[in-house]
Amino acid sequence: MSATPRVYVGMSADLIHPGHINILQRAAELGEVTVGLLTDAAIASYKRLPHMTFEQRMGVVANLKQVSEVVPQETLDYVPNLEKLKPDYVVHGDDWRTGVQAKTRQRVIDALAQWGGELVEVAYTEGISSTQLNQSVKQIGTTPSVRLARLRRLIDTKPIVRVIEAHSGLTGLIVESTVAQRDGRNVEFDAMWSSSLTDSTARGKPDIEAVDISSRLQMINELFEVTTKPLIFDGDTGGKPEHFTFTVRSLERLGVSAVIIEDKEGLKRNSLFGTDVAQTQSSIEDFSARLAIGKQAQITDDFMVIARLESLILEKGMEDAVERAKAYIELGGADALMIHSRRKEPDEIFEFCDRVSKFPEQVPIVAVPSSYNQVTEEELADHGVSVVIYANHMLRAAYPQMVKVARTILENGRSLEADPYLANIKDALAIIPENMG
Ligand code: SPV
Ligand code: MG
Repeated sequence: MSATPRVYVGMSADLIHPGHINILQRAAELGEVTVGLLTDAAIASYKRLPHMTFEQRMGVVANLKQVSEVVPQETLDYVPNLEKLKPDYVVHGDDWRTGVQAKTRQRVIDALAQWGGELVEVAYTEGISSTQLNQSVKQIGTTPSVRLARLRRLIDTKPIVRVIEAHSGLTGLIVESTVAQRDGRNVEFDAMWSSSLTDSTARGKPDIEAVDISSRLQMINELFEVTTKPLIFDGDTGGKPEHFTFTVRSLERLGVSAVIIEDKEGLKRNSLFGTDVAQTQSSIEDFSARLAIGKQAQITDDFMVIARLESLILEKGMEDAVERAKAYIELGGADALMIHSRRKEPDEIFEFCDRVSKFPEQVPIVAVPSSYNQVTEEELADHGVSVVIYANHMLRAAYPQMVKVARTILENGRSLEADPYLANIKDALAIIPENMG
């Protein structure tokens, strides 16, 4: 009497649709089905983080009648699980023969060949796909609590979380929907940065905390109306300690995931001036107390209060930065550290990362490579950086182009000559899909 054949199906199961059921149905006809459920980290290694957590997805899949067992699949690669389980069949949709998944498929075939297993491919179900469903979910939008919690999930699952500045509905849309290919994979930004520099500059004001919190919150509201990605707020010094409580509560209510405050006081100037302008660093005690106020104010577990160290910017030295980092975690309760530098090389950032990696208590590190911009995300991640922020790039992109167009029109007494610098009118209308009816 031969045992029931064992069948393995790897899946993400984030948005279950008839295509998945079709595959599981075929698998159940062949034998007893074990689903290898991809972990959040496995999924985030090649596409966007799933909507549902691993536990939620597990709950759904374990209750499907075709499924006997669910095991975690920790990597995109099936081989580690297959070698453990040695199934008689692997069942998959036939849509992975070409493109990024072709290599994964070949490794499955080679592994199965070792014990005479077989790959069964089910014809792709037309008319429905996760990509389409993801689009629809985006149109429906998100809620403040789901958006807020997403940053921690990203930090927990991705080698490095990629963040870029947004200062208007339009820049938010660009962050939300721009996708590019790198090494055969789709890459996109994970989150937005509400920069004090660009939020002020877009309003024609200096970066000295002159734009009040209400205006900054209003901009976040506008960003959130047209996006679903999480946001990190540049909280400058945090303002008066007594006011910081209210700022944290307002940010959380909107669904902002984190606030970063910097250890400066008095009139705050932009860090990229370094020591060219007078700036005062707070005492360790005062700044830790400010962080603690934020931590006490927050209501959800997921909101993050991040301590930003200005020691390197103000040329106070590495020892000062490391001492402060330790205190901000231990006394202030900082959930993460942002280390800033305006050097051309990333060396001091790397040294800081190495030093804090020896702390007994580990927190994520945030880097802002505006001046040391030759560094790659991979290099930052290798040194232990968890979040990279491109802090001012949308605004710096738009500004020179706008000036060029303004000048060209003035020089020519008409706009024809400015055409090479402009989106044509049809493309400009198409930026907002709803314009097209
Ligand atoms: C910002 O974007 O406003 C920042 C980062 O605080 S930096 O401008 O580099 O200081
Ligand atoms: Mg700032």
